[in-house]
Amino acid sequence: MSIKYYAKVSGTGMYVPDKVLTNFDLEKIVNTSDEWIRTRTGMSERHIAAEDQAASDLAYEASLKAIKAARIRAKDIDMIIVATISGDHPFPSTACVLQQKLGLKGFPAFDVSAGCTGWIYASNIAKQYIENGIAKNILVIGVEILTKITNWKDRGTCILFGDGAGATIISRAKPKDISRFIDSELSADGTHYDLLIQNAGGSRMPATKETVEENLHTVYMEGNKIFKNAVRSMYSACDIVLRRNHLDVHSIDWLITHQANLRIIQALGKKLKINDKKVIVNIEKYANTSSATIPMALDEAIRNGKIHHGDLVLLASFGAGLTSGSLLFRV
Ligand code: UT7
Repeated sequence: MSIKYYAKVSGTGMYVPDKVLTNFDLEKIVNTSDEWIRTRTGMSERHIAAEDQAASDLAYEASLKAIKAARIRAKDIDMIIVATISGDHPFPSTACVLQQKLGLKGFPAFDVSAGCTGWIYASNIAKQYIENGIAKNILVIGVEILTKITNWKDRGTCILFGDGAGATIISRAKPKDISRFIDSELSADGTHYDLLIQNAGGSRMPATKETVEENLHTVYMEGNKIFKNAVRSMYSACDIVLRRNHLDVHSIDWLITHQANLRIIQALGKKLKINDKKVIVNIEKYANTSSATIPMALDEAIRNGKIHHGDLVLLASFGAGLTSGSLLFRV
């Protein structure tokens, strides 16, 4: 009889750069206002990476905290998965750069590109590797420095993003451990791949002087269309795992969704009929850090004592692709 293994989150950590950019600072850069940004998005400030900081630098700091929280040694890690769309280089993967920074080698390290759903995609992959018995401690990170690929002349996008990293250690649970991953659902709808895109810099449109001058290496987004899709796709991902596990929404202790817009978070909470007090929100401090929002919010909620051992947590995200997904686990 084959042994059944379970995955669990055994440690979390986060890191944000020191520099803070407030809505009032943004008023000096583009035609916007603190009032517009707060009422339309729920954001007040965001952290911005220094010129010499790349994604792996942020990921490294967050990883050290997660390793410590998991009470393991770095050398106990047997896989690294980095979810990012703003890695150090187009190649090699940021996971390999991070592996070198951590002084490790000799096991798989790779990146996952699934936009803001990246950490949920990466955690779902990690879950498979733990459950099939191949890996024991996987370092899963969501990290972004989107402010380096932001068009600072476009008020529709430049006010939205911040930089940060959220790291988690996903480990094999002990047989009697109540902490474990329960279920996860992933999806994508490529028919809308062009609604949120970095147009230039790949093989479709290699970098030229013109592409740089026309700002084609920065984030292009049709925010309004994505907004409508966001609530629908996250609701569907949550509904599927709740139904599949015969769970009522009232049994969920905490809901953490991608922090892209407070109105989206509230609309999802309302549609799911979950108590507001169970919805974790930190968008006001960090804005949209893409694949990092969920692991950052999870780490913060565990460290500030909101989320406790044994709590049932539902995570949901959506993003470029258009991707979406959910993850249900007991802390
Ligand atoms: O994380 C990845 C997924 N991305 C998202 O989830 C983003 C989802 N979308 C959103 O969060 C929202 O669509 C935005 C926050 C991006 C925009 O909010 P909105 O309520 O959809 O605004 P809108 O784009 O419909 O624009 C409304 C008005 C427009 O002016 P007019 O045409 O009505 O005169 C915009 O030009 O607001 C104007 N506007 C601004 N005004 C002040 C757009 N950006 C700004 C700004 N400051 N920064």
